[in-house]
Amino acid sequence: MVIQLPMATKDLTFQVTHNENAKSAQEREEIFANPGFGKYFTDHMVDICWSEHGGWHRPRVQPYGPIALDPAAAVLHYAQEVFEGLKAYRHEDGSIWTFRPEANARRMQRSARRLALPELPTEYFVESLRQLIAADGDWVPGGGESSLYLRPFMFAKEAFLGVRPAAKVNYYVIASPAGAYFSGGVAPVSIWLSTDYSRAGRGGTGAAKTGGNYASSLVAQQEAYAHDCAQVLFLDSEESKYLEELGGMNIVLVHRDGTLITPESPSILEGITLDSVLQLARDRGLATEMRRVSIDEWRDGFNAGDITEVFACGTAAVITPISQLKTADYTIGSADAPAGELTMSLRQELTDIQYGRKPDPHDWMVRLDG
Ligand code: PLP
Ligand code: COI
Repeated sequence: MVIQLPMATKDLTFQVTHNENAKSAQEREEIFANPGFGKYFTDHMVDICWSEHGGWHRPRVQPYGPIALDPAAAVLHYAQEVFEGLKAYRHEDGSIWTFRPEANARRMQRSARRLALPELPTEYFVESLRQLIAADGDWVPGGGESSLYLRPFMFAKEAFLGVRPAAKVNYYVIASPAGAYFSGGVAPVSIWLSTDYSRAGRGGTGAAKTGGNYASSLVAQQEAYAHDCAQVLFLDSEESKYLEELGGMNIVLVHRDGTLITPESPSILEGITLDSVLQLARDRGLATEMRRVSIDEWRDGFNAGDITEVFACGTAAVITPISQLKTADYTIGSADAPAGELTMSLRQELTDIQYGRKPDPHDWMVRLDG
């Protein structure tokens, strides 16, 4: 069945094809019982085409399924790709909301510029989420801390082996019910300091959300797993001295006076969770500092009792306490250190806003259904 849905913008109308083989309510409930992260996908996906001459066109919601690619598609060879990650939350009254989607849209535009990809206008980005939720709203779990993880992405589809920006690109949105990102739930995690590998360098793609950054982090992430650590921490590539970020999240150190300190660097991803947490801290009258932070500052500060808590933050991980940093030469903290008090109270405040349990003073939430 094909029905036309008007889009918020006048020049784009989504064509919707319903999935005849959609999962049953019971199958969905079974998935919701133990969703993990990124393992199961909903019944539909969004697909919008772009071409150099036609611009954005043919917006569709279609059954979730494999994408046919020419073996010469540029993305397979030169990794011209960007993506985003945000979540849909079900509130107590059944309504479905997301968190600061315009910020994700703008970041995707910045990432696209860096990767010489076309920029998807903000209103198309937000409308694409609404369209997917119109088809797959039943996939947003309710209760606890579950959500529907939304993954917009865009890549070079043109079949051409010359190295230049592709003239044909597709944008998609897929969605996946999500529980905790780490298998241990919200429990504190150990992280591993990578000294052999960098995530990004000066003038590189570190600030863009592009697959290559994650590809280059994998070997370091393997090292982390080998040392019983859940994530890897990268340092700056020039001096191997200053904290950058984890493979898939930002990092924050908490001073004993409540100041939140987070690395400043042109080669890290500007996290929306990070920005929000810093705002919530400022709302409480706490100081926040975004500046260069050396690994020695962390170690000395921990030993002196000045750095009292450390946490990771990102859409997938929300706010996750870090109990220890392991390096080849020394360890900061210990695996059994409890979650920090301020860490957990900021986590509670943020998730209360996201799940609609508390007022949303900054108007961060955007309704996706209805
Ligand atoms: N840094 C990296 C490398 C990430 O992959 C993410 C996750 O998206 C973040 C930071 C946190 O960004 P956000 O809070 O916008 O999800
Ligand atoms: C996110 O938090 O959205 C991310 O992209 C992190 C990724 C490692 C799952």
